[in-house]
Amino acid sequence: MSEQIMNTSSKGTALITGASSGIGAIYADRLARRGYDLILVARDRERLGAVAKGLTDETGRSVEIIGADLNNKPDLARVEQALRTDASITMLVNNAGVAATSTLLESDVDKMDEMITLNVRALTRLTYAAAPGLVARGGGTIINIASIVGVRPEALNGVYGGTKAFVLALSMSLQKELAEKNVRVQAVLPGATATDLWGKAGLPVEHLPSEIVMPADDMVDAALAGLDQGELITIPSLPDAADWEAYEAARQKLIPNLSHRVPAARYRAAAAA
Ligand SMILES: NC(=O)c1ccc[n+]([C@@H]2O[C@H](COP(=O)([O-])OP(=O)(O)OC[C@H]3O[C@@H](n4cnc5c(N)ncnc54)[C@H](OP(=O)(O)O)[C@@H]3O)[C@@H](O)[C@H]2O)c1
Repeated sequence: MSEQIMNTSSKGTALITGASSGIGAIYADRLARRGYDLILVARDRERLGAVAKGLTDETGRSVEIIGADLNNKPDLARVEQALRTDASITMLVNNAGVAATSTLLESDVDKMDEMITLNVRALTRLTYAAAPGLVARGGGTIINIASIVGVRPEALNGVYGGTKAFVLALSMSLQKELAEKNVRVQAVLPGATATDLWGKAGLPVEHLPSEIVMPADDMVDAALAGLDQGELITIPSLPDAADWEAYEAARQKLIPNLSHRVPAARYRAAAAA
């Protein structure tokens, strides 16, 4: 596979999950134009095939598709295998995901379980499959599509927010671990973005106030601009990067005091009373 799709002008191959629609299909377009060959993953082979054909015709890049339900372990294993064995891969875009907008009391726990399986388990297994090869080949890039609900879990469904907080936490951990190995891990935290995700989650995007909804093309272009600028966390909507830096500085300030032999004085006082 890798021999067929490599060519001298290529930046290597980017494997993009959830590339049949929305944000993932736009990443496919932008990365092909940047000189990447592509492996596109999603369930809908027909839509994937149409995306692939359009991009091959327009850009001349090699675009392969893998039809896979990432909630199905054998399907997921095929994608993991591709990541482990295709030495042309230089980038993984962990984008496939589903959302929910319902409250706990209105939600079907089996649907929550499926969301965790896709947003957390699949993303984790694909990251674990990709990272060793990237390290062995001297570097690469992992882009993890999180969400602003990762830092604002009160906004939508709490399990959705929880899955995206996981993506953010895993990314931050890997940023530290893989930095010296020349593997960049970018977490992208989009706000509301105009895709079918909302309709599938039961709240069509047209029902949101238009001033909070970003066109998907703009969101991806901003996220790639953040990548080009070397950002590790990119929030396409955030006007002032200093606001995130202040949030991060507050977290850093906690760190020296998060683990001590003795409880904090206020709890000792309560126990003695
Ligand atoms: N839209 C937003 O407002 C927004 C905001 C923040 C973060 N995000 C995140 O952005 C990512 C992309 O979402 P989107 O807005 O582009 O939504 P979308 O248009 O619904 O795209 C989701 C993609 O994931 C794929 N997918 C879904 N279930 C899958 C499964 N079981 N196995 C394999 N692929 C699967 C879908 O393809 P198939 O149906 O063909 O499988 C589709 O290509 C998600 O992680 C989402 O959480 C979106």
